[in-house]
Amino acid sequence: MELYNNIEKIREQFPALTQRVNNRELVYFDNGATAQKPVGVINLLNEMNSGVNGNIHRAVHELSARSTILYEGARDAVKLFINAGDRGEIIFTSGTTASINLVANSYTSTFINKGDIILLTEAEHHSNLVPWQMACSRSGAELRFLPVDEQGNWRMDLLDELLDKRVKLVSAAHISNVLGIINPVKQLIDKAHSAGAKVLIDGAQGIVHTEVDVKELDCDFYVFSGHKLYGPTGTGILYGKRNLLEEMVPWMGGGDMVGSVSLEKFSFAELPLKFEAGTPNFIGAAALGEAIKFVKSIDKGFAEKHEKEIISFITRELSKIDGIRMYGLGENKISLFSFNIEGIHPSDLAILLNKMGVAVRSGMMCCEPLMSRYGVTGMVRASLAVYNTMKEAEIFIESIKRGVRMLS
Ligand code: ALA
Repeated sequence: MELYNNIEKIREQFPALTQRVNNRELVYFDNGATAQKPVGVINLLNEMNSGVNGNIHRAVHELSARSTILYEGARDAVKLFINAGDRGEIIFTSGTTASINLVANSYTSTFINKGDIILLTEAEHHSNLVPWQMACSRSGAELRFLPVDEQGNWRMDLLDELLDKRVKLVSAAHISNVLGIINPVKQLIDKAHSAGAKVLIDGAQGIVHTEVDVKELDCDFYVFSGHKLYGPTGTGILYGKRNLLEEMVPWMGGGDMVGSVSLEKFSFAELPLKFEAGTPNFIGAAALGEAIKFVKSIDKGFAEKHEKEIISFITRELSKIDGIRMYGLGENKISLFSFNIEGIHPSDLAILLNKMGVAVRSGMMCCEPLMSRYGVTGMVRASLAVYNTMKEAEIFIESIKRGVRMLS
């Protein structure tokens, strides 16, 4: 397969990138929230919606067979992409949030008891916090938090002390959507396992910016969304180790997750269907397979070098701006930059940037406790993807400088 090592060729695959916004060329720097879609994904969505639309697994007719092949083919693609042991370990969900809720319900109801502890970090987004708060109120378990330091790095020096025998589960982001630091997840997993705890890694950002090998990581669960990985919205993955998924009791019942059903009782289907009750977003899931094909078509060496150059340019230029405070600092960063500028409200700056055609996120980033940790009510965040260029980075910096002049 030919690998793409040319940014223009990569961009050609993304029709959304050529549009103008507010009479300017769009600079799309909100990829941490959702990424644009390549033509392979768009074409498969169109093809399935306009023809290959038969409900999967349920019928002997041609359209059902074709949909099923595409859906199950995407499962195989995900399995290979993250190096899972078998296809039964890949559960399709509607996104990271749904995957975490699945574990927070099924794992907790099967394995977590009153007095047990679930360890999170204080940098988790709401999706990796609220489901555990809900699970604790149901089960009588308690939450405990690994703090982050001023730069946004996990306080690994406190981990041994926090990981006592009461901790049964650890759930943490591979990369925080606010801080952009690639966290030392392997070290966390190894330490948690030595302490007898299982580990869920929230890969919402991690799957996009790192190569994930679940066998090498040895995580018990790894979750991510399709839409941040150039795939459709409403798609996501829960990877879980087979032995755990087999023991976990599903939290949703319905068609396709059953073996046999009588009026009084039912038996579970085999993995992975046990956790896929009802008609799933099979068209979206199939198109997630196309998104993975796109990601695999990028020359990794090229993408890494390109991202490093942009990180170093943006970090250097942002740090020259008077009154700037940047969050998430260090060597092991992705191209995601959260910051505040003294005396300027983050939303005001984001609104001005939008007028200049630059899309960034502002506000709490679904991470209110982390905002409190830094004593702010919001931030501006620029998050880049593989198709963003150095020219766009320059426009972004110039637009911030203009915005600051207008708001000062
Ligand atoms: N979690 C998404 C973000 O960081 C929505 O913007």
